[in-house]
Amino acid sequence: MVELEELPSVGEKTAQKLRDAGFADMMRLATATPKELAVKVEMGEGVAAKVIEAARKAEKIDFETALEVKERRDDVGYITTGSKGLDELIGGGVETQSITEFYGEFGSGKSQISHELAVTVQLPMDEGGLEGEVVYIDTENTFRPERIEQIATGFGLDVEEVLSKIHVARAFNSSHQILMADKINELIQNDVNIKLIVIDSLMAHFRAEYVGRESLATRQQKLNQHLHSLQTIATSYNVAIVITNQVQAKPDSFFGTPTKAVGGHVLGHASTYRVLLKKGLSGKRIARLVDSPHLPEGEAVFKVTTEGIVD
Ligand code: GTP
Ligand code: MG
Repeated sequence: MVELEELPSVGEKTAQKLRDAGFADMMRLATATPKELAVKVEMGEGVAAKVIEAARKAEKIDFETALEVKERRDDVGYITTGSKGLDELIGGGVETQSITEFYGEFGSGKSQISHELAVTVQLPMDEGGLEGEVVYIDTENTFRPERIEQIATGFGLDVEEVLSKIHVARAFNSSHQILMADKINELIQNDVNIKLIVIDSLMAHFRAEYVGRESLATRQQKLNQHLHSLQTIATSYNVAIVITNQVQAKPDSFFGTPTKAVGGHVLGHASTYRVLLKKGLSGKRIARLVDSPHLPEGEAVFKVTTEGIVD
C-alpha cells in the first residue's frame, strides 16, 4: 500500500490535511477532481491535479483487457456453506473477489452461517474449502468459539488448529470497525493466508451512531469507503468477503416480515450477492438470492444444527 506521504508534493502537513478532509483512502483521492481538492484541502488546482494523477498511478487506475478480467475470474475460489442447496443457489458457494451479503431478521441464521464459513474455508479444496485463514470482525459480540468447536468437530477437524486460524476483532464502534478492516492488509502482507473476511454485522454500529437525516450523508460516505477498502482486499488478494446485515420494515409492508436491507444504495451496489434469510417452519431456514450479476433468483432451504448448517 502506498501512503499519502509517498506521493510527490505531499508532505506530512498536506497528508494530514488530506486525511482530515476525508481523503485518507488512496482510491478516494484518485477519483477526486482538482477543484474538489482545491476547495476541501485548500491547495492550488495545479498541485491538486498532480496529487490526483499520482494517486491514480498508485491505484493503477487503467483499463484492463477482457482477457485480464477473465484470468482474474479464473482464480475465483468457492467456500461451501455446508448446505448443497444454499451453495447451488449462490453459484457454488461463497465466492472470493466478491462481497456476499446475508441479511434477515433476528435469529434467521446470519451469525450461524458466519461461524460455519469460518470453519469450512479451512477445509481442503476437494471438500469445499480453500485451506485458508479467517478474519472475523464481530460488532455485536456474538462470536462464540464454542460454536466453532462444535462445527469443527462435525467436520472431524482439529479444534485447536481451526480456532488458531480465526483472527477475531471485536469492533467497539464504526471507526474501530473501519480501522480493523484496514489492518487486514498488514496481516496478509505478513503472509497470513487469509481467504475469508467476515463482518457480523456490517451496519449495526453505523446505524446506531448516525441517527437522523442530517447525518445520513456522512454515514453513507464512511460506509462507502469501508466497503471500498474491503472490495480492494477482495480483488487484490483473492479473498471472500461475507457481511451480515439487518432488515428494516418497509412502510408499505406493515404487517409482513421486514425484507429490506439496511444500508441503502451504497451497500446495494457494493454487494455482489445478496441473500435474504427467513425463518421457516420447524427450525428450517429459507434463503433467497435477491441480486446477482449472472445467477437466476431462487430459493434454498437449510437447517441449523449443532454441527452447523446442513440441507
Ligand atoms: P441476529 O444477530 O440476532 O440478528 O440474528 P442472526 O441472524 O445472526 O441469528 P443466528 O445466526 O444467531 O441464529 C440463531 C439461531 O440459530 C437460534 O435461534 C437457533 O435456532 C439456531 N442455533 C444456534 N445455535 C445452535 C445450535 O447449537 N444448535 C442448533 N440446532 N441450532 C442453533
Ligand atoms: Mg447475529
